[in-house]
Amino acid sequence: MSRQKALFLTAAKGSFAVGTAAVPQPGPGQILIKIYATALNPVDWKIQVHDFFIREYPTILGIDIAGTVTDVGEGVSGFKLGDRVITEAPIGESDQASFQQFTLASVNVTAKIPASLSFEEAASIPLGLTTAAVGLYNRVGGIGLFPPWEEGGRGLYRGKPFVVMGGASSVGQYVIQLARLSGFNPIITTASKSNADYLAALGATHILDRSLSPDAIRTEVSKITSAPIEAIYDAVSFPETQNLAYDILAPGGCLIIDYQLAIDEARKTSDKRVEYVYGIVHAPAARTLGASLFAKLSHLLIEGAIRPNRVEMLPNGLEGIISGLERLQKGVSNVKLIALPQETS
Ligand SMILES: NC(=O)c1ccc[n+]([C@@H]2O[C@H](COP(=O)([O-])OP(=O)(O)OC[C@H]3O[C@@H](n4cnc5c(N)ncnc54)[C@H](OP(=O)(O)O)[C@@H]3O)[C@@H](O)[C@H]2O)c1
Repeated sequence: MSRQKALFLTAAKGSFAVGTAAVPQPGPGQILIKIYATALNPVDWKIQVHDFFIREYPTILGIDIAGTVTDVGEGVSGFKLGDRVITEAPIGESDQASFQQFTLASVNVTAKIPASLSFEEAASIPLGLTTAAVGLYNRVGGIGLFPPWEEGGRGLYRGKPFVVMGGASSVGQYVIQLARLSGFNPIITTASKSNADYLAALGATHILDRSLSPDAIRTEVSKITSAPIEAIYDAVSFPETQNLAYDILAPGGCLIIDYQLAIDEARKTSDKRVEYVYGIVHAPAARTLGASLFAKLSHLLIEGAIRPNRVEMLPNGLEGIISGLERLQKGVSNVKLIALPQETS
């Protein structure tokens, strides 16, 4: 197979269209993956609307990849033809993107999918999990905690409080699960009431209704714990959630945001750290952490320590991504939208 179907973003702020592209050849340390499932992420529609990260158009977007290995490059060990794998694409490299039928992947950020997980569930994991992991455990763009997948890391922060704004988001769900593995307690999050039971099952100890006023949320948090809250992850990073999180954060603490900084100047003090996380583990500063996470990921999934997001499959293969991104832009609740590139007509 030398040609494949791909979804192109045709121009800056332009439209998407399905076309054909060459199937790339894996280089040293790379594998070729036949993509069965890919997840949609907010950054995909944000790139189309705002035009950032992309140097050349037309381009292929898409970050979350689940499929089977169909070719291996020089020096690859540990993966063979037919293995079911997940991986994360860098942004702006069409031959490694996920909105197509075949893609290249670097083996150091690839993991085998356990038999218990479908391709669709597996595709919900990479970007959400790495964004959570980099924000919590990387020294650059993160709090710099010690990861729970490394020896001695489980339960290391036992008894310390943790707050996650937007726990029902894809990123937020992985933050809750990693915070639980790290031992944080209580784990307080904000979400719609309808998602409370779901987030409790992932490890949140207290779920506050996100429709409460900022003052009411602060009061509820202070009723739950009087300990200083030194670690907060704002997984949705709207201006109102960032400002609320900043107010809750104790002096000496660190707030992670995953979208543009929007904290009011008047609030800022020199004793609170705010870090913007860039979750793609191909970034040089996150490569080591990413490789260590992907090396342990199959094991974390097999033991159920990390669970995928709830998934909804989109119809019409790659074409279905176009309306899927419009839905994502309007906002979804506790669901990862999944496209199936092999079902493209
Ligand atoms: N910097 C990076 O590397 C990076 C990586 C990945 C994502 N991101 C960014 O992170 C954000 C989240 O991405 P995602 O894929 O996790 O999003 P998502 O799953 O699409 O988020 C949807 C969820 O957001 C929650 N939500 C919306 N407004 C909220 C509010 N005011 N308070 C609390 N929760 C709220 C909703 O919760 P309920 O259903 O409970 O109402 C909903 O379930 C996006 O801005 C995305 O662009 C950044």
